Amino acid sequence: MTGFPRERLRVGFVGTGFIAEFHLRAMIGVRNVDVTGVYSRSAANRERICRLAGELGLGPCRSHESLEELVQADDVDAIWILSPNDTRLGVMQVIHGEVTAGRSKVFAVACEKPLARTIGEAREMLRLAEDARLNHGYLENQVFCTPVIRGKEIIWRRAASTTGRPYLARAAEEHSGPHEPWFWQGDRQGGGVLSDMMCHSVEVARHLLTAPDAPRNSLRVKSVNGTVANLKWTRPHYADQLRQRFGNEVDYGNRPSEDFARGNILLEDEEGNELVIEATTSWAYVGAGLRIQLELLGPEYAMEFNSLNTGLKIFMSRAVTGAEGEDLVEKQNAEQGLMPVLDDEAGVYGYTDENRHMVECFRTARRPLENFEDGVAVVEMLMGLYRSAEIGQTVTFPAPELDDYVPLVARPRR
Ligand SMILES: NC(=O)c1ccc[n+]([C@@H]2O[C@H](COP(=O)([O-])OP(=O)(O)OC[C@H]3O[C@@H](n4cnc5c(N)ncnc54)[C@H](OP(=O)(O)O)[C@@H]3O)[C@@H](O)[C@H]2O)c1
Repeated sequence: MTGFPRERLRVGFVGTGFIAEFHLRAMIGVRNVDVTGVYSRSAANRERICRLAGELGLGPCRSHESLEELVQADDVDAIWILSPNDTRLGVMQVIHGEVTAGRSKVFAVACEKPLARTIGEAREMLRLAEDARLNHGYLENQVFCTPVIRGKEIIWRRAASTTGRPYLARAAEEHSGPHEPWFWQGDRQGGGVLSDMMCHSVEVARHLLTAPDAPRNSLRVKSVNGTVANLKWTRPHYADQLRQRFGNEVDYGNRPSEDFARGNILLEDEEGNELVIEATTSWAYVGAGLRIQLELLGPEYAMEFNSLNTGLKIFMSRAVTGAEGEDLVEKQNAEQGLMPVLDDEAGVYGYTDENRHMVECFRTARRPLENFEDGVAVVEMLMGLYRSAEIGQTVTFPAPELDDYVPLVARPRR
């Protein structure tokens, strides 16, 4: 490639919701980057992001009335796809169309998790990116969590090098349920909590088990076994609550997606050693905020991290009133009592290092650690887990029957 390294990377956002704002705030900790453009359907949302980019010193950021206009802009080098899961492929098709027609100078694209709702969609995302000769990054923030970076480095350097590789990774992510209706609609989102949150758990676990500098495909999935359940949101009282909050489109009395999922994944390394990933995710956890729990175990060592065991805690008595403490930690359900506070959410959740990595890779024409190939591999594991839960059996890999598989809760309504 010519013209690299670029001095700065000029990023355009597609999407202006929860995660777009998180990425923008995380970009304060990234060098050599400007956020120069944004597109989503609502002008008010675009203006909000442009204003924030200006306030954070990341702009000037321009609001574009169409996706085509954003992708054609002279001051945009890379697109961050941050819109809902059912818009992914359409967005990627437009980027591909504009770039291959010579109307766009965009040379890289980063996409939020999950890369797609099915294996077919995920492979098409990868194909379109490669066909348009775009560098590509898969935005899986947990791989870049500061405790994951530090923990993995220490375990592999000190413990695995002297006593043998780790063999078991446990990963759990739980909270009280998503903030927007589309997440709850199986056909739009691609599934329930398994698709929405286990995408994090399987990938961070796979990353922890992979030797530093070894390619991700040095581990081979042998089989997957999944369970899904409806623990909370199908109960009549809670189904009513969802309907009142999000409207009739979110009907958990008649059309629920799972709010709990468990997955066991058996893998093999290049020497034939067996490895295991145990993942648990839930939208039915009411605690002091989003809880990420990670463990990495080997023959003579163990690592563990719990995102709610924070060093900083705040106590507020009953006399202190106000809204629930989302400003203290994501998905905090209470506003009183002893509460954990993440003093740097963007760092601990991995958004800062993730963005720094993507920007530096794109600027210098290197392939990111997490790219669309990893996004495809994640969707393959998720579809295997859904199918295993549906048929009540372990699914062995390779599993060509998953190529056109659609999870039960994501199939079109009759
Ligand atoms: N890494 C993580 O931990 C994490 C956390 C949350 C979300 N995510 C992922 O990030 C993505 C977005 O989630 P979110 O929480 O930000 O959702 P959200 O709050 O609902 O925001 C979605 C945004 O997309 C825009 N949008 C909708 N349709 C669009 C279209 N056709 N073209 C362009 N923009 C469109 C919406 O704005 P308009 O109404 O103005 O179009 C809105 O700004 C999802 O894929 C989700 O899985 C990741």
